Amino acid sequence: MRVSSELPRTTTAIPGAGGPGSPLKTVHEMVAPELCGPVLDAGCGEGRLASVLAGRITWVGLDCSFTQLAANPFRPLVSGDMTSLPFRDVSFAEVTHLWCLYHLERPVAALTEAKRVLRPGGHYFACTAARDNDPEIMPEGYPPTSFDAEEAVSVVASVFEDVDAELWDGKYFPLSTHDEVRAYCRHNYIPSERAEQAEAPLWLTKHGVLVCARGP
Ligand SMILES: C[S@@+](CC[C@H](N)C(=O)[O-])C[C@H]1O[C@@H](n2cnc3c(N)ncnc32)[C@H](O)[C@@H]1O
Repeated sequence: MRVSSELPRTTTAIPGAGGPGSPLKTVHEMVAPELCGPVLDAGCGEGRLASVLAGRITWVGLDCSFTQLAANPFRPLVSGDMTSLPFRDVSFAEVTHLWCLYHLERPVAALTEAKRVLRPGGHYFACTAARDNDPEIMPEGYPPTSFDAEEAVSVVASVFEDVDAELWDGKYFPLSTHDEVRAYCRHNYIPSERAEQAEAPLWLTKHGVLVCARGP
């Protein structure tokens, strides 16, 4: 499976896989065909996975942010903490943690909960960017988080036994003008001087990982 990345550590979705000239795909678009439902989309945000699923399967979204929940048009939505899920054991065929575990001090707590609510043989998905993402504008790398691509597999493997990973590494994300570079930096809390130093047009190199695991 080839996977795209997203703008690093933000609530927005994004980029594409395949490099310059190839069709863009998000992680949501890559994961959606793998799902049979019911799926728990933990840290669902504004509902990007649900928008790709388009009602094809049973989806349940959970998030702790009222702002994100208010912006999410899909149902059912549950207000809750992914480290203490308000669901019975073995309730879901799949659990996803897309672009969210790096918000937690202890991602293992959320992984343990995901495993608890997964049905036997169910599937788990998580994704994240690497510290050396976007080297064209962040040559020194991003500050470490609790769930960077560099350690994501071992963190997931500390909870799940059957773990697989798809890494991505390529010039996947085009920024055509300086205004686009500036907007990208603003959106990702990257110091504005980086935008001025960058040469446009450019293709950002995206480094990240989609980790997949099978439930007990
Ligand atoms: C970067 S957004 C990703 C949203 C969505 N998964 C996506 O791929 O577009 C991260 C989301 O995780 C949520 N989140 C962070 N910590 C959480 C927690 N402990 N429990 C539930 N949601 C959490 C945030 O509110 C936010 O909506």
